[in-house]
Amino acid sequence: MFARQPDQILANGLGQFTDLLRLPSGKSLTVRFVTPDDAAALQSYFRALSRDSRHRRLMGAANELPASELDKSTHVGAQNIFAVVAEIDVDGSRVVVGEARYAFNPENLSAEFGLSIDDRFQGQGIGATMLANLECRAAALGASRLIGDTLRNNDAMIALARKLGFIFTTTPGDWKQVRFEKRLSFAAADIPCESWRLAASGGFPMNVFSPAI
Ligand SMILES: CC(C)(COP(=O)(O)OP(=O)(O)OC[C@H]1O[C@@H](n2cnc3c(N)ncnc32)[C@H](O)[C@@H]1OP(=O)(O)O)[C@@H](O)C(=O)NCCC(=O)NCCS
Repeated sequence: MFARQPDQILANGLGQFTDLLRLPSGKSLTVRFVTPDDAAALQSYFRALSRDSRHRRLMGAANELPASELDKSTHVGAQNIFAVVAEIDVDGSRVVVGEARYAFNPENLSAEFGLSIDDRFQGQGIGATMLANLECRAAALGASRLIGDTLRNNDAMIALARKLGFIFTTTPGDWKQVRFEKRLSFAAADIPCESWRLAASGGFPMNVFSPAI
């Protein structure tokens, strides 16, 4: 059963669901839903990724996000697909340092995600912070499992998933990939991000710092 219907979550406006998270360095990381106004910035972000990172994120050779995928990312909530960007403040300007997308499947109560971090900002705990936040976001939609697929040689993603307690299995129909999944066992009232706990239990979300991971 859904903790909260996606359209109910969206009805309050995307801006309500911005999380202010704390990185291991102590810096703040803002994670917010993508809006149609972000299309150019999101595409620039993908173009600026290293070829390796882009290949790992898009699971294929592409110089940018294909138009159909960009369209999905900028229409948050359509088909139960949600896209977020992570931003930090650099000299007074907001800079996109990561992005993620998650899709909720109401039939089996699972959410699948993909994410990437700008090469210049990898290794600073941003991926781990975002993934922990995605767990809350997925749980707030009612997902009981969070699932990712990645290339078998993607040591960084595999180590990150292992660190956050995902278990590994095979990706159906693709031996080049490995699947990792985590049971999201918390009830709505126990979701470990305050904003998403409130969203799931019908209260009003607010910006909070994430718990330590
Ligand atoms: C995978 C990815 C998201 C990790 O993000 P990140 O911000 O660099 O990761 P973090 O700094 O949060 O690291 C968290 C943990 O992941 C593991 N990790 C991260 N980078 C690693 C690397 N290059 N090699 C091995 N382990 C690594 C470590 O266990 C690390 O914990 P530690 O710092 O305590 O050792 C990032 O490398 C990336 O965007 N890669 C390209 C796109 C991609 O592969 N996406 C996955 C498709 S689903």
